[in-house]
Amino acid sequence: IDFEAELDTHFGIAHTRWATHGEPSPVNSHPHRSDKNNEFVVIHNGIITNYKELRKYLVSKGYEFESETDTEVIPKLIKYLYDNRENEYVSFSTLVERVIKQLEGAFALVFKISLFPSCSFSRRLQSAHTNKVIYLEDDDVAVVMEGKLYVHRIKRKAGEDPVRVIQTLQMELQQIMKGNFKAFMQKEIFEQPESVVNTMRGRICFDGNTVILGGLSDHLKEIKRCRRLILIGCGTSYHAGVATRQILEELTELPVMIELASDFLDRITPVFRDDVCFFISQSGETADTLMALRYCKQRGALTVGVTNTVGSSICRETDCGVHINAGPEVGVAMCVCAYTSQFVSLIMFALMLSEDRLSMQQRRLEIINGLKKLPELIKEVLALDDQIKSIADELHHQRSLLVMGRGYNYATCLEGALKIKEITYMHSEGIMAGELKHGPLALIDKHMPVIMIIMRDACYKKCHNALQQITARQGRPIILCCQDDPEISKMAYKTIELPQTVDCLQGILSVIPLQLISFHLAVLRGYDVDCPRNLAKSVTVE
Ligand code: F6R
Repeated sequence: IDFEAELDTHFGIAHTRWATHGEPSPVNSHPHRSDKNNEFVVIHNGIITNYKELRKYLVSKGYEFESETDTEVIPKLIKYLYDNRENEYVSFSTLVERVIKQLEGAFALVFKISLFPSCSFSRRLQSAHTNKVIYLEDDDVAVVMEGKLYVHRIKRKAGEDPVRVIQTLQMELQQIMKGNFKAFMQKEIFEQPESVVNTMRGRICFDGNTVILGGLSDHLKEIKRCRRLILIGCGTSYHAGVATRQILEELTELPVMIELASDFLDRITPVFRDDVCFFISQSGETADTLMALRYCKQRGALTVGVTNTVGSSICRETDCGVHINAGPEVGVAMCVCAYTSQFVSLIMFALMLSEDRLSMQQRRLEIINGLKKLPELIKEVLALDDQIKSIADELHHQRSLLVMGRGYNYATCLEGALKIKEITYMHSEGIMAGELKHGPLALIDKHMPVIMIIMRDACYKKCHNALQQITARQGRPIILCCQDDPEISKMAYKTIELPQTVDCLQGILSVIPLQLISFHLAVLRGYDVDCPRNLAKSVTVE
């Protein structure tokens, strides 16, 4: 690309895409084109599932493909349809609609067609930074013609509102500046004392011990009567479900299922009208979670979104929801900002649902007090950063790192291990300590790095047993434990001592050292913390 070149055109389209077909390379990058004259140019997000059939057909018609992507069938197909239009006049939008009819999968497309030069943005718009957006619905086609934007629908149903509103994004530029931090992820880790406050703001009345999640109020009765709660998500968002399942079960006395969206769909899981299904998603756009949402809606369940992105697909398609207010995320690795805010949101939901249960009041009070003190305790954990960095210094040449725990802290093991593999590329596994003797113990020797989480809660004794099994095999565990625990300290290779909080909130504190370790390990290993290889910020393909 000649960046200095002067061009006649003042309208460009570009897109960075997570590679689904073919390796990331210049030839597989967007836009894709119909021919060497760039007659039809396309960018595409999503996936074309019938691209193989289309490609075969177009090759049989003499089209030569340049890339390995599924996207390239689109410009070739539009050219084919244009060339075979049999003397009839076809408008830009008719042509686009004809192409879309042939495509299967999930996709958002932008076309630029040299035959219709009047379709362009004005020069001012091209260079402007905007915070004004229009969210397109499925089957919407937007055309920009002579500076005007037209939106119409391919399949318009009776009574459907054709108006698309311009919305203003709330994200302020200064909010996403890195400041003095080395990486956005690091900044997000250190912002957690504020982000959890933002999640709770205006929702908890600390004097009256009431919790109100406005987005759920209208559906509260229905939720209380439900058969079971199903929490669905992917990756870190799934872990937020794992982290809060126990307290949800305890306070609501309802059966709680935790599901990975992809597996939930693979199993064609039975869902009923009296189920309440939660869709936990930072971006609100994750394809697997969105598909699971549509699946549950079709079966008549009440759907609840737990998202960080107002106006996202999951936000718009659920019956009701909780906005976690964690602030904008820039690092690809979903940071604890969103994890801890999802965690706090689900705890608040459990508190809201159990408000009229007399037998739960003592427990509720304890948790609400714990939430009040949480920001200060998070700051105490963040103050351990130097100590945690020195541990990372020692570990950064290792190939593997096991993270072990159980009960309320098992989710921390899963989340910590995910962060480690995601940004440091070390092998890492979150292990349920109760499963140790059923296999993972075989991995333990004096060389295998192990982090154990042993907090003063109902699992303390059992974790202590696991610790003995590890040290008996010459394991040298680094232990995350509560302050002043000499019993544990004497068996540990190293300890990271954390302030103690209510058992069901402890996971919010215990995950922070693991985020910090993964951050320091990645920096020490020379990797770009905010842009891990092979990953995308929001995964809009199944
Ligand atoms: C982990 C990470 C991913 C996401 C997952 C779901 O750091 O970023 O595991 O948590 O892709 O994304 P959302 O929450 O946007 O649905």
